[in-house]
Amino acid sequence: MEIINRRQRMFSIARKLRRDSKTVGFVPTMGALHAGHLELVKEARQRCDSVIVSIFVNPTQFNDAKDLERYPRDLTKDSALLAEYDVDHIYAPDAEEIYPPGFSTYVEVEGLTKGFEGASRPGHFRGVATIVTILFNTVRPDIAFFGQKDAQQVAVIKRLVADLGFETEIVVVPTVREASGLAMSSRNERLSPDARDLAAVIINSLRAAKMEFKRGERNAAALTQIVLSGLSKEPLASVDHVAVVDAATMEPVERVGDTETLIIAAVEFAGVRLIDNVLLNRGQ
Ligand code: PAF
Repeated sequence: MEIINRRQRMFSIARKLRRDSKTVGFVPTMGALHAGHLELVKEARQRCDSVIVSIFVNPTQFNDAKDLERYPRDLTKDSALLAEYDVDHIYAPDAEEIYPPGFSTYVEVEGLTKGFEGASRPGHFRGVATIVTILFNTVRPDIAFFGQKDAQQVAVIKRLVADLGFETEIVVVPTVREASGLAMSSRNERLSPDARDLAAVIINSLRAAKMEFKRGERNAAALTQIVLSGLSKEPLASVDHVAVVDAATMEPVERVGDTETLIIAAVEFAGVRLIDNVLLNRGQ
């Protein structure tokens, strides 16, 4: 397993893999790897000849300098984990390699980036769309893997790939959860062990709404209310948003119909912002 820092080196490896007709699976990450990332890597390993994981804490997607500063970084630990999962290459460039002086081109996906995470974190999706474009142009993956937990990011990347004509297939992997049900996230580390267990209230409330959906409830306001009422029972939880949305456009719906629909939640939990979602309807 080689750790690559230079974009030129990554280019030439990617070029050789293509010349040798190897399928390339790509898992973009910001490091601080947990079981959720490793699930993406496993999926890539199963489907592709060569697996490339990028580790890059992307400054342009942080709207809060403190958040960027305290983002956990441990390349040695991450590389050791990835070696166990039989990854072929790690691409871990420095910020200057990606954003050299004079950098001034950004990718903006309009519309579906405005609400929810986009509203709470202005500029976040512009940073994500920009780095994903740069990484896809360097690695040229056949398939790239993303986690369902970041539902809006998934919608943004699918839109980006369709609009800019990338050949990369996007595979979305179900959310990996802690024993309590809490969605895996590097942010979970910031919670005390007690708060971490209590944070399962988020998925439990979402699941309660899904249960009602299965019993026939189609009204978005009623489903949202079930989640809000579950969350209101936990004093550590302060709700940012709960909504029933079309999975592709992130537009709120009034009634759950035939298109793929999610119920999403963002909660400030003991001072840590956590997000999660459940799929109500796969779409037909
Ligand atoms: O989901 C993430 O970790 C990041 O947003 C991504 C896709 C690696 C881009 O920096």
